[in-house]
Amino acid sequence: MTFTHRHLLGLDGMSREELLYLIDTAASFKEISERDIKKVPTLRGKTVVGLFYEASTRTRTSFEIAAKRLSADYVNISSATSSTTKGETLLDTARNIAAMRPDALIIRHHAAGAARYLANRIDCPVINAGDGAHEHPTQALLDLLTIRDHVGRLEGLTVAIVGDILHSRVTRSNVHALRALGNTVRLVGPPTLLPREAAAMGEVHHQLASGVRGADVVMMLRLQRERQGRNYLPSLDEYARYFCLTRAALAEAKPDVVVLHPGPINRGVEIASDVADGAASLIMDQVTNGVAVRMAILFLLASRRGAQVEAPANEEAQPERRRKVG
Ligand code: CP
Repeated sequence: MTFTHRHLLGLDGMSREELLYLIDTAASFKEISERDIKKVPTLRGKTVVGLFYEASTRTRTSFEIAAKRLSADYVNISSATSSTTKGETLLDTARNIAAMRPDALIIRHHAAGAARYLANRIDCPVINAGDGAHEHPTQALLDLLTIRDHVGRLEGLTVAIVGDILHSRVTRSNVHALRALGNTVRLVGPPTLLPREAAAMGEVHHQLASGVRGADVVMMLRLQRERQGRNYLPSLDEYARYFCLTRAALAEAKPDVVVLHPGPINRGVEIASDVADGAASLIMDQVTNGVAVRMAILFLLASRRGAQVEAPANEEAQPERRRKVG
């Protein structure tokens, strides 16, 4: 297939074929990170800029590692150390960066729509690394890759997404992709942490037990304390009592259930430590796969060659054979 997108702004509207193409491309990059010398010349001479207006550990670091493993030059700008502190607007900052001719601009911003806003105004591929409560497409792609690695398929699954759905861009990207691939999505949380449109996004559950019952995948969400502008919850203790994923709660799911969490985790709030560190947890696998997903996205967008290029790293080695899906 041909992947014709110039930007990665979200997964809403992406077809099953496009999603599988991105996941397959990411899978083919995994092997590079297992090598002794973790570098290929795929993006030699290209420049990638990360513009982070919100804190990030996993996304920012894995984009930087991904760019460097592809031999691109990577520059990171955080709002705290940029001219944003002197009153420069987002658009002016982005225009100035674009004037230096990068091959891709990665943006994380607290405002929903920030990535699209820039994509419509600058001449450079834009990658959304999380915009407010809108989308976090590379997170959902790495979640999908991790599920497929461990469950063996990406369709016909029951996926329970649990917690602070209201503020979750991870949920929105996952809902679009999981449904496009033919899965059942459950949204599980207290009514105050579910958006008005929840019923249109999936099955709604207000009880953890019914939400995870029989699930193949349980995706826990961080309680976004920094975005709790109103009193959505009586207290953290109260939230944990009803929605913390403990081993007892997880016993309601399928025996071979897998547990995901995008991180950072609040131990003892949304997930018990023995579940986060337990046998069903894929949290570290998600982080590992984040590098491969971001290598794939940079390869497709920064090289401006998209699907016309056969293999991502064939200058040095064959990518691993693509897995048959579903
Ligand atoms: N999952 C995720 O986006 O983590 P960071 O905020 O650390 O990037």
